[in-house]
Amino acid sequence: MNISLESALEEAETRYVADNPKSAARHSSARSSMPGGNTRTVLHYSPFPLAWARGEGAHLTDLDGHQYTDFLGEYSAGLYGHSNPVILEAMRGALEGGIVLGGPNQYEADLAAAIRDRFPSIQLLRFCNSGTEANVFAIQAARAATGKSAILAFEGGYHGGVLYFRKGGAPLNLPIPTVSATYNDANGVEEKIRAHAHELAAVIVEPMMGGGGCIPAERDFLVALRRACTERNVILIFDEVMTSRLSTGGYQAMVGVTPDMTTLGKYLGGGMSFGAFGGRVDLMSRFDPDRADAWPHAGTFNNNVLSMAAGLTGLKKILNAAAINKLNNKGEKLRQAINEVGQRHDVALKATGAGSFVGIHFTRNDVKRPGDLDPAGADKRTKLQNLMHLDLIAGGQYYARRGFIALMLPTTDAEIDTFAGAVEEFVTSRKSLLQ
Ligand SMILES: Cc1ncc(COP(=O)(O)O)c(C=O)c1O
Repeated sequence: MNISLESALEEAETRYVADNPKSAARHSSARSSMPGGNTRTVLHYSPFPLAWARGEGAHLTDLDGHQYTDFLGEYSAGLYGHSNPVILEAMRGALEGGIVLGGPNQYEADLAAAIRDRFPSIQLLRFCNSGTEANVFAIQAARAATGKSAILAFEGGYHGGVLYFRKGGAPLNLPIPTVSATYNDANGVEEKIRAHAHELAAVIVEPMMGGGGCIPAERDFLVALRRACTERNVILIFDEVMTSRLSTGGYQAMVGVTPDMTTLGKYLGGGMSFGAFGGRVDLMSRFDPDRADAWPHAGTFNNNVLSMAAGLTGLKKILNAAAINKLNNKGEKLRQAINEVGQRHDVALKATGAGSFVGIHFTRNDVKRPGDLDPAGADKRTKLQNLMHLDLIAGGQYYARRGFIALMLPTTDAEIDTFAGAVEEFVTSRKSLLQ
């Protein structure tokens, strides 16, 4: 069974294929109309992804009828779970009022006010349809406001499919001149901002790298960004598409560092498609259509009633400080349990993250930036991630193959214990491969 990592992986894949004939058939037929049978790259994993028949609370059922506890939480957009009755009622109410109304509706200004009241940096905001769109508009606004063209982004940073800064950039990235810097390197980035200030419109940063491996920013690093940006008239953008859920005021409130602009997405639409960007009044007021020099900002579905009603209800009726703290504590408990497994068995296993986000990595390194995730052993690390994913799926635990977890409000403490137990079982049964 564990003769080599390659043979263990092959065997686990064979088991997976045998267990999931309906997901396999769906994948195969999807390939005729979508490249690789896929319409969202992050949802693909080999040999084919499980396809879902339904979701309820924090549980999923696949086409073959297996049940899973959902630790992926739709990459953080599923915060409220798959079937929160309060959210469903808000959506039903919105549907009954009619859709595609083609004008301002009764929800959007209340949702905007609720968001403005929560996030310290947001004086005015606008809605859009995704986190990617929010980042594009925030960056373009910064470029228009400053008259400068470049941005500074961090190696491994993810701000959307056209703003992906791994290993210098992605083939479909927007053609925006970009200065690359190292995450959590306060001195290095301050120097870079000063050296490039003449061309830098904005610095964009995730207060916790999500796609980069659940790596939280150190407070000193964010303080250094704030200082250098203020000093050199560079607009500081916090991409809080993921991290905004870590406190009622997002990561910025937790660390007491206020950016000029903030971008949002994911759960804030209550599970519907969502994006928003906001910030300083002098910047955002340029979007006022009554101004002669107004910046245009379009988007047919920016204020769609489902996102607006579900998002508003989520903030008003569900997501208070107590609910957030409770969920963050569950994340802390899971992180601790996984780290204890690593220590108890003396293997290279580490859980990173903040609050309700957990990243699982096969490394002994202190992880402060993506480059710390074992640069020498990327191939082995990927195979171990694949193997653990297949083993945990076989045990009814669903999370992202790269080791990403975003807890959902309905996740129970018992489910956290079960997941940690499944990780320990993996470590025990695959120990020889981990060493
Ligand atoms: C930090 C961050 N920014 C931006 C995005 C893009 O958001 P969306 O997928 O809604 O376009 C994501 C999505 O995962 C994200 O994690």
